[in-house]
Amino acid sequence: MTSQSHHDPDALNRLAAAFTVSPNAHPASDEQREAMIDKPAFGQVFSDSMVRMSWRKDQGWSGRSVEAYGPLSLDPAAAVLHYAQEVFEGLKAYHHDDGSIWLFRPDANAERFQNSAKRLSLPELGTEDFLGSVAALVRQDAAWVPRRREYTLYLRPFMYASEPYLGVRAPQQVDYCVIASPSGPYFPGGVKPVSIWVENRWFRTGPGGTGFAKCGGNYAASMVGEGRGAQHGCEQVCFVDAATGTYLEELGGMNIFTVHRDGHLETPSLTGTILPGVTRRSIIELAQDEGHEVSERMIKMDDLLADIRSGEVTEVFACGTAAIITPIGRFKSDEADVTVADGESGSFTMHLRDKLLGIQLGEVDDPHDWMWKVC
Ligand code: COI
Repeated sequence: MTSQSHHDPDALNRLAAAFTVSPNAHPASDEQREAMIDKPAFGQVFSDSMVRMSWRKDQGWSGRSVEAYGPLSLDPAAAVLHYAQEVFEGLKAYHHDDGSIWLFRPDANAERFQNSAKRLSLPELGTEDFLGSVAALVRQDAAWVPRRREYTLYLRPFMYASEPYLGVRAPQQVDYCVIASPSGPYFPGGVKPVSIWVENRWFRTGPGGTGFAKCGGNYAASMVGEGRGAQHGCEQVCFVDAATGTYLEELGGMNIFTVHRDGHLETPSLTGTILPGVTRRSIIELAQDEGHEVSERMIKMDDLLADIRSGEVTEVFACGTAAIITPIGRFKSDEADVTVADGESGSFTMHLRDKLLGIQLGEVDDPHDWMWKVC
């Protein structure tokens, strides 16, 4: 089946029309492109085109265009290189069986992009420009959307302070781009349980910080923990709160859920230090649709480990646009090494994953009207 959306089917087309297309004069050949989209790893290859747009304090947004993908030219004094004024988003374009191409909740990404920009004193990009820019790129590079299951065109809108100025202030000149990467599963091992390093020395962010914003700095701060995890054989890191060092927050680039013996789910509450994931929000709604109680609350890391050991927690999974839903099989720290149940993918985790992916791929009904047709 193919999703029937209640969004105006022409809405994205109309918004995309505001972007002037100058096609890449040297696109990949059909053979090159087919080889690149056949089984790409995550985030390593990029399509022919990109969106560009710029903002000046006295003029607002202008220069809406889709042009050839290529290097950016940046003044060495550009503020982003010194003060990290950058925010980004991640969303995917999905091929449905009938050849149509769809986006999943792009309006939610537009809203979060605005909230992230506000936190970093960057200008807000209107929802119409966000949706139009993404749709214009997908329309132009529709041939780059992989057709193989589990493979999608990962879209990365981002904005940065390009103004050449070393004073510390809200920027007066900003650039916005969208790039597209045909991508496979985020974890190279595919959909199998990952091991998580519980980081207790370094924190990702703190109260009143930028944790809720999708900005590069949060990811930069997570990498030292990621590195410590890799030294202990873990694929991902999980952070606890900086204020007390006790409460579970999120992984290096994903949210986290626990599944309990009685069927209820728990996930850390949005305290301002956690990214409000679009996938997180969707999972809460999908689980509730099926009658599962979902509690958003402060979860003590020690309690979680004890509940895994006792069998109270039967499954744990990570979620995000890139990771979709990925089972977690093991937690390791300086003091602990705990396997979740038998360390295999839990059945409820995989059921939720199939359901979410089924909606995204147009295989099952889309009761919340999450899908937007691009072309
Ligand atoms: C996403 O899931 O889209 C992200 O931005 C996470 C990143 C680690 C790839």
